[in-house]
Amino acid sequence: MQGGSKGAGGKRFWVNGRFVSESRATLPVLDRGLLFGDALYEVVRFYRKRVFLLDRHMDRLFREAEIIGLPVRFTAAEVARAVEGLAARSAEPGGLVLVEWTRGDGERRLAPSPGFRGNLFAVRLPLPRLPRRYRNEGAPVLTLPDERWQGTDLKSTNLLAAVLARSRAEREGCHEAILHRGRGPGARITEGTSSTVFLVRKGVVITPAVRGLLPGITREVVVGVVREEGLPLEERTVRLAELFEADEAFLTATSAEILPIGAVNGRPPARSAPGPVTRLLIPAFRRVRDRILRKTPPARK
Ligand code: PDD
Repeated sequence: MQGGSKGAGGKRFWVNGRFVSESRATLPVLDRGLLFGDALYEVVRFYRKRVFLLDRHMDRLFREAEIIGLPVRFTAAEVARAVEGLAARSAEPGGLVLVEWTRGDGERRLAPSPGFRGNLFAVRLPLPRLPRRYRNEGAPVLTLPDERWQGTDLKSTNLLAAVLARSRAEREGCHEAILHRGRGPGARITEGTSSTVFLVRKGVVITPAVRGLLPGITREVVVGVVREEGLPLEERTVRLAELFEADEAFLTATSAEILPIGAVNGRPPARSAPGPVTRLLIPAFRRVRDRILRKTPPARK
């Protein structure tokens, strides 16, 4: 397995309360996450052994768990300690931790019978490496219909439509698929398969309103940065056509932070990417991030 645990620092997995090596990181085959995608997840980033906005990730996870009624096997503080433990055991100062929380394992029935306990695991992952030209010249993207289910405000592991869209984008030499619901002039941008979309037009920063979409934590930080910088901001329905008319566009995500968008559907951007607003926001984001990290204690084992 890529980035295996051997020689890469301390234990890389936590499963139902225990830090374990890869060979012991197992779940039952009848786990509902595997059978039905009946599970939630979070991806958290750590920098210099400090976990960035861990509380917000835990709040989002536990809020969603309440909505879909996942059995609470561990408290938010316990899951947070697991994430911190994996960050603290890392040989690398920075990386990601994936947390997954399934409804548990047992009899295979769509409607769960009472008694499911939940299964939780976390695993430390390396940061995905992006080609440098994506940051320097903008990442190529492909627009595709959003074929995901309606519950995309939940970070559920029901990701088949995202898997297919992202695979198609990558096959066509793109980094990300920008998804839209509806067709023709009514089509509206939802998000990337694993990122939030921002546009800039005539100095105004525009992003889809979060209703029905994942309330991205990086999005929230970027919105704060945009306000701090005194730039006008619109959170609203964003038409697909606006992507083609935008002066600048960028993606935000925990792993990528702010990533400028370059060519859309093979068409190079009208102005060279990253544009001036994106170039202003990237260092401004880093300053806010570092301010937050300075106040964050280092992760403990
Ligand atoms: N991206 N939208 C979707 C569908 C996502 O999967 C993600 C997360 C985002 C951005 O959310 P946040 O800023 O909280 O990470 C939006 C994964 C975890 C990532 O690549 O970081």
